[in-house]
Amino acid sequence: MKPARTWLGVLALAAAACGGGGSNRDPQAMTRHIEEQSRAAYPALPGADESATLRERGRGIFKAAGCELCHSTSRERKGMSGPPLGGLAEVMPGRHDNDALEARRWLYRHIRDPQRFAGPHAGTPEYRGAFMPPNTRLNDDEMRALIEFLWHLP
Ligand code: HEC
Repeated sequence: MKPARTWLGVLALAAAACGGGGSNRDPQAMTRHIEEQSRAAYPALPGADESATLRERGRGIFKAAGCELCHSTSRERKGMSGPPLGGLAEVMPGRHDNDALEARRWLYRHIRDPQRFAGPHAGTPEYRGAFMPPNTRLNDDEMRALIEFLWHLP
């Protein structure tokens, strides 16, 4: 009984944070809503110049948003509670039919709602019991900057 109630509470919180009028009663509508948001934020891949500017900005957002509390930006975990994020661009497209735009949109969805759009490490023995908090505070420009930063981590 109790775990079920807790889970419902998490869903309600995530839905409330998203602010879609009434959609908090329909988990599927919530999923579609976040998918739409990810497409609106990423209608196309940024060009090289834009990407370079975004990346620079994203570095600061990664810190300010507290991501570095749980993630190393290299390929080593370094004792952190989340998976290391270095080299993401090498593994991500393969998980999304080699579509780099769709992979970026997945990052958007994952950051907004990590439970609903869980990564491959969620619930694995290595990361069992570690949870990533949803981030609904960053606006779409900040999200794009953060994602370009993540995408280009060596
Ligand atoms: C409290 C710890 C914590 C914080 C803070 C956190 N994360 Fe996570 N993150 C995790 C855990 C645990 C996972 C693994 C579970 C999963 O993939 O859903 C994860 C997974 C990820 C993944 C998927 C990695 C992969 O290989 O698929 C990305 C990308 C990510 N986080 C980015 C971020 C960003 C960007 C921020 C800041 C906005 C952030 N995280 C904040 C704990 C955290």
